[in-house]
Amino acid sequence: MEPLFLGSNPSTRANYYAIPISVYISVINPELAIYHGLVDYIARSFLTIAGKQKRFVHPVMNTYATVVLAAGKGTRMRSTLPKVLHPLAGMPLLGHVLNAVEAIPSLASYVATTTNHRPVVVLGYEAVHVEAVFGQRCLYALQEEQLGTGHAVLAARPVVDELDPLPQTILVCYGDTPLISSETLVRVLVEHLAHKATITFLTAHTEAPSDYGRVVRNADGRVQAIIEVKRATEEQKRISEVNSGVYCFDRAWLWAALDSLPRNPSGEYYLTDLIGIASSQGRVIATVTGTLEETIGINDRVQLAAAEQLLRRRILEQHMYAGVTIIDPSTTYIDAGVVIGTDTVILPGTMITGKTRIGSDCRIGPGTTIDQSAIGDRCVIRNSALEETTLEEGVSIGPFSHCRPGAHLARDVRMGNFAEVKNSYVGAETDMHHFSYLGDATVGEHVNIGAGTVTVNYDGIRKLRTTIGDGAFIGSDTMLVAPVAVGEHAQTGAGSVVRHDVPPGAVVVGVPARILRMRMPQPQPDEGPTTEGSEKV
Ligand code: UD1
Ligand code: CA
Repeated sequence: MEPLFLGSNPSTRANYYAIPISVYISVINPELAIYHGLVDYIARSFLTIAGKQKRFVHPVMNTYATVVLAAGKGTRMRSTLPKVLHPLAGMPLLGHVLNAVEAIPSLASYVATTTNHRPVVVLGYEAVHVEAVFGQRCLYALQEEQLGTGHAVLAARPVVDELDPLPQTILVCYGDTPLISSETLVRVLVEHLAHKATITFLTAHTEAPSDYGRVVRNADGRVQAIIEVKRATEEQKRISEVNSGVYCFDRAWLWAALDSLPRNPSGEYYLTDLIGIASSQGRVIATVTGTLEETIGINDRVQLAAAEQLLRRRILEQHMYAGVTIIDPSTTYIDAGVVIGTDTVILPGTMITGKTRIGSDCRIGPGTTIDQSAIGDRCVIRNSALEETTLEEGVSIGPFSHCRPGAHLARDVRMGNFAEVKNSYVGAETDMHHFSYLGDATVGEHVNIGAGTVTVNYDGIRKLRTTIGDGAFIGSDTMLVAPVAVGEHAQTGAGSVVRHDVPPGAVVVGVPARILRMRMPQPQPDEGPTTEGSEKV
């Protein structure tokens, strides 16, 4: 059998084949579409063995484009930030929706697109701001005036119609429904395909349908309309099936229908009114039922908090199933982009945010915040705060310490309690136990930083660097007045104020510190009582 070439774009079509038998199954007998994946899989294995192309697409679904509506200000959020940029588990609402959309092809090769069409995002309020956040990840359409969801989809038309190959199906979702999963989007696409529908949309059932559009069906259970709550009768308001805001449309029908969509009494063009129009035309309308959880649309900050709680639980469960112990999920907050290795234990009151990566066998918390950091294996971090920090393996921090941006602690460093490191490299096995501050410093290996050591890195105008060589011994309460360098194996006396570079191996004391003697070779026991008080615990 000759494979079919799909798509009109020669640069992409060569990657995609359809297997005639699976075409037959899905077109002739749509109910068997569920077996399509199996046929696809078998065929793919066969061709993989034969060393040929590995990807297949369904010929009917070979062209779909996604339109994400994100033009609204989100008046009910009462915020100057566009609604879709409000963070949920550390990621803007729109980012969650885009993640789900972008994962569709990886889930179902048989509904994969023939191209990697980027999602078309409709922007309006603060469009420049939103576009700056997502950049090249999407294509953008501008809806200058926010006249409703139907009007917003129409604003995407010029961008969609430029796509090559031209999509036959338009998947529409809303930028404010961040819990939607790619699995559910695939279900809507497959159902649309199987029924050769004009419209397929996602619904959910709830006892508290609040401000969702109600799905009105006739006695046979056929969909007749979606009625927005503002226009619903008391009886319709009691309908427990609601519109989740995910739709597939036949493109040609969609454009024609939107062109003739009337403004409703509230002055808007509702996308949901298309369901009534399609129904009155006797078109095929299919529905897919999903969970209410996935449906949650964020209109106000109460819904934002509710979604945060659901998503947070989902994220924690993913980590737990992947081998991370979370002692108290109710007080543990982990952002969507965080990666954690197996057998790491997260103790109560811990918040891990941004694109943080944590290795295996760590012990994090209690009472710890870690943001945008990379933590190696076997680290222990107690009651501390870390931002934009790198820890190599075996580092111990806290309790009550602070690593600020640019802190890099090498293997087996021990830091704290009550210590702070900022924009500094600290070499392997260095100890920095109590009440110390290292800012803009480069510290070697096996250094002892005595209690109360401070790098005096700021002269009121400039930030200045301190360098401390391998094996140096910094006495308690030393002030290192930058710019200054302490040589390898040098030593400073307790309370010394070091204003000049210290040669390797020298012992300095006093205010300002002066050379007392050379530390190397080893000092005699009756010489120099000056370093007592340097802490090494
Ligand atoms: C919408 C649906 C409702 C459904 C609910 C699910 C309509 C008319 N109603 O209501 O049936 O139950 O979502 O969450 O579609 N937007 C634009 N341009 C506009 C208006 C809105 O881009 O002119 C965007 C918004 O930014 C938002 C999305 O469309 O991301 C949905 O709009 P929103 O006003 O939140 O609709 P809902 O009232 O939630
Ligand atoms: Ca909404």
